[in-house]
Order: sequence, then C-alpha cells, then structure tokens
Amino acid sequence: MDTLAILDFGSQYAHLIADRIRRLKVHSEIFPADVPPEKLKSMKGIILSGGPQSVHAEGGLKCDPAIFDLNIPVLGICYGHQVMNHLLGGRVQTGKVGEYGKATLHVHDLNNPLTQGLDAEEPVWMSHFDEVVAIPETAKALASTDDGQYPMVDFGKNRWSIQFHAEVTHTPHGMKILDNFLNICEAKREWSMDRFLELKIKEIQAQARGKKVFLLISGGVDSTVTFLLLEKALGNDRVYGLFVDHGLMRKDEGASVKQLLEKIGVKNLRVYEGANEFIGALKEAYDPEVKRRIIGDKFLEVQRHVTKELGLNPDEWLLGQGTIYPDTIESGGTKHADKIKTHHNRVPEIEELIRQGRVIEPVKDLYKDEVREVGEKLGLSPDMVWRHPFPGPGLGVRCLCVKEPSPLANAEKLEQEIDAFLVKNSTPLLAKILPVKSVGVQGDVRSYRHPVVLSGQAEWSQLEAISPMLTNRFLDLNRVLLFLGQGRVDTVRSLPNFITKERLAVLQEADAIVNQMLFEKNLLRDIWQFPVVLLPLEINERPGETIVLRPVSSTEAMTANFYPMDKTLLHDLTQKIQALPGISAVLYDITNKPPGTIEWE
Ligand code: XMP
Repeated sequence: MDTLAILDFGSQYAHLIADRIRRLKVHSEIFPADVPPEKLKSMKGIILSGGPQSVHAEGGLKCDPAIFDLNIPVLGICYGHQVMNHLLGGRVQTGKVGEYGKATLHVHDLNNPLTQGLDAEEPVWMSHFDEVVAIPETAKALASTDDGQYPMVDFGKNRWSIQFHAEVTHTPHGMKILDNFLNICEAKREWSMDRFLELKIKEIQAQARGKKVFLLISGGVDSTVTFLLLEKALGNDRVYGLFVDHGLMRKDEGASVKQLLEKIGVKNLRVYEGANEFIGALKEAYDPEVKRRIIGDKFLEVQRHVTKELGLNPDEWLLGQGTIYPDTIESGGTKHADKIKTHHNRVPEIEELIRQGRVIEPVKDLYKDEVREVGEKLGLSPDMVWRHPFPGPGLGVRCLCVKEPSPLANAEKLEQEIDAFLVKNSTPLLAKILPVKSVGVQGDVRSYRHPVVLSGQAEWSQLEAISPMLTNRFLDLNRVLLFLGQGRVDTVRSLPNFITKERLAVLQEADAIVNQMLFEKNLLRDIWQFPVVLLPLEINERPGETIVLRPVSSTEAMTANFYPMDKTLLHDLTQKIQALPGISAVLYDITNKPPGTIEWE
C-alpha cells in the first residue's frame, strides 16, 4: 500500500497528521525525526510534524538533511517548516511576540500545486514563537500573514513547508492543503477501515506470536472492540476477558454489562466482584491523582490475582488493553506532553509492562469515532457502538472528596470583582466561588483550581460568551457553573468526606435519571458524553450534597464544548434530581475544554 512517512518532532501533532491522512484514505507510518534516510526510500511522501522546540536550542531535534535529496515530496509543518528553512538555507529567529491562535493567510500564488482550491484569504491556526525571517534564495514565498512574511514556502524539487497547522480543524481548509500534498505525492487512496482491519489482524498475530491475551474489559466501546478484534485475529481460545465490577459503576451497570458481553458472544469471560475491595482501598483518599493511582493499581492487583487463580503462566500471556489515542496524550504518554490525568491504563506498573513488550493495544492509534467505525465493521449493534464513553475509574473520579474545607483565600474579594465584571458585560449574574477544586487543561498543561457558580437568568449564548472570559481573566478559576435552583447561591457548606457506598448510591440515582432522559429523548448522539458529578457541598442550607450536570459535545475528547440543553428539558431534569433524597442543589457545568477537562478529576 502506498505509504506516507510522518517524522515525529515530539508532540501529538504527528498522530493528528496521521489521522488526517487516513481520512484522506492514505496510509502513513510515524518515524522518529532522526530516522536514517534509507528507511524512507519506499515512501510516497514525507511530512515533518510540529514540535515544541527551537532549531537553535541545544539538542533541538532535526532530521537528516539527506532526506531532502531522496527525490520524494516533502512537506514541513510548523516546527517542520522551521527545520526545513534552517537546513535548506533560510533563517529562523526567536520571535518577539509569536503567533498563537487564529491568523489570516494572504495567499499570493493560487496556481501552485499546494495552493490549489484555496481562497486568497484563508483563516489558519498558528502556534509558534520562533519565526522564519528569510528563505533560501531559490525558494518562493506563496503567502504572508500580518505578522509573518513566510508562512508558506515552495523550495522547488517538490519540497514545501507551512508555518500554520493544516491538520487542526481550526484551519478550515487545512485538509485541502494536505489533499493537495497527497496529489503531489501521487499517493494512491487505498486506506480504508477494511484495509486497516486486515493489517491490524496481521500485526496482532505477529505481536502475539503463539501467546494468549488477557484483556480487562469494561463493557465500553473501546475494550469491547479490542476484545472482538483480538478474537478475530487469534481465535476465541486465545483471548480471555476479565470484567472487574469495581462498585464505581453506574446503577445496575455491572449486571447489564455482563448481559451485554454475553449477548455479543464473548466466550472466555470472568467476572470479578470487587466493589468492597475497591471502595475499601479508596478510604481516606481525597486527591484526584491518588484516587486514580489506587484504582489503576487495584485493577492490576485483581488481574494478577485472577491470572494466578487460573494458573496462567505470565510468559505465555500478554495483557490486552482497549487504550485509544487521546487516552495516552493526557497521561503525558507522548514524549513532551504534560500529565493532565493518570489514565488507568497508564499507571507506572503498566508502563513497565509496555517497556517489556508485554502489553497489546490494537486500537491505540485511533480516535473514538474511528473505534466506533471498527465496532460497526465487526458487527456491533448501534446501541453498543454509540454507548457514551465512561472512564475506567468510573464514578471514582466523579465523586469529589475533600479532607477539610478548602476555600480560596481571597474568595470574597474575587467574587466582588467578578460581579462587577459581569455587570460591565451586561450579564448581571452573581458569582460564588466553591470551596472545592477540579482538574483542567490550560495551554496543554494541567490545572487544579476552583469553580465559580453563577446565579441568575441568562441565555445560553450569553453564557457561552461569558464563561471563557471568566476563566481567561480570573486565573484562580478553571470552571464556570450555573445554579439551577431558585434565587441565588447564598451559603455553601463543605462536607468533608471520602468515597463511601452511601455517597455513590446518591450519585448513581442522579446519574440514572440523566441516562433515562438521554435514552427517552434520543439524545445519545447529540450529546457526546454526560458526566454527572457529586460535590461534597451543601448549598443554601438545604441538606444533602450537590450534583453537577456536565453534558458536552465533542468529536474525539481532545476538545469539547458544554452542551446547551433545551431549557424545558433541563428544568424537568433538575426537578427530578432535586427530588431525590440526599441532594442539596443541582449545578450545570458551562465550561469548554479547554480550560476544563470533561471529567472533573
Ligand atoms: P478528560 O476528563 O481528560 O477526559 O477531558 C477525556 C475523555 O477520557 C475519558 N477518561 C478516561 N477513560 N480511563 C478511561 O478509560 C480513564 O482513566 C479516563 N479518564 C478520563 C473521559 O471520560 C473522557 O471521555
């Protein structure tokens, strides 16, 4: 199959480019940036990816310049653009301001093979500090931006580079540019999900080489698809599934997952009832990362226990996991990424097994929508394929815990400033900062900050505008919520506690009401995911804890928008949840990702 090489300069961009290229039906392979040129000889084209470095920094990654003489088309993107200019005779300088976010590309040459079908003005997405200030004499600038003269360069001999990211959706015609490059490469559009499956099956067979696979299965799309794929490749005698009911599942979820897995014919399945063990281990665990570690480690402990009980020789078995690509980025799984959250598939012990080559993860390069497509190909029913994602640590990361009240030191003063800011922006809502914290992701870096809750009436459009303004301006905050009760949030009392069965039961009931509504109103596709979160807070002296509704729309969980729900529906939903015993108040999360992650912890 015609293949494109993507040279990885150390960021998630290489994978994103691979994904975009797949969607243009071309197969690609990712190589480290310093790959020996001989290895690239059979490639139809080469793309140099972006990366968070500087060509001038000591150890700044570069590729072997001999790859430019292989007579294979090359496209450099962002850092790749700077590397190409640096190596081919241009000049790169540390910028004074950098360009971040949206810029307008003024295309001067619309007849170049790379600019076919573009408009004279194109919105593009930039993220760079260094800039190209001179290009080689023989090269041609094809475009400019207000802050840069050389955002798009034709070096001749089928070599191009661009400063902006063509691979992100914020560059609306980025796919057109990539498509033009694939035409230049004359790459045959042979990639399809069927071909992917064919290749994947061969790859699994090669990796498993006579071994069997033991897979932790949750009933979610990713692990179910992984299980079926492994069975297809290795036969059902060589694949063993373990479903751990950790008691952090949704209401009645344990039983329904067992039924579901039986229905689709999962043959070797062992169910482990671990509720007491997991919840017991979480006693007095408050910090989100500590909770994640405890749950991840417990999964492994159970897996070891069960393999031992079954008498399985670890040398004959691989550990299978349904990890998908976004899971690995936020665990800091790529070389230069910050750790946002420890994914349960990336605790240190698993990392060690990965290093030893004892883990198999067949869908780890795919995004959620692609895993769903594989699921459809493997014959899973639509209700299975369209199940909402549910995190491995389950309600463990949706049931917030505090050891002692943790109010923000200057909360009152800040609330006054926020109120004034809201009035100034014609959104007269009242602010209250909550004495808990949640995880967020800001500038690709983890944050752990307080949420602010707004009380009063406003249109969704107003809230959409005001929410990012608040998190951009008030740096102690990373989340904005809306109070769904009568009047305003007046008093907030912290109820220090860890995870208990009783608290989980309250959360499960509220979550069940939400899921029933999603099903009845046919909203499972419109809303991408709908976490329901329990906060140990009593609001306005109404006894009980507080529920947060967190519906989002997204395509692959890397970014997300809060979902503006129909107000009548939301009113009904709030009434039902509010009527449950043990619920003090209901809040609505109006934070996008970034700055807030989808899950709170
Ligand atoms: P965040 O909260 O980081 O979540 O925006 C992105 C997506 O990942 C899911 N998630 C997990 N899934 N194990 C999982 O299987 C985990 O540890 C985990 N943490 C987050 C989350 O539900 C969302 O879909």
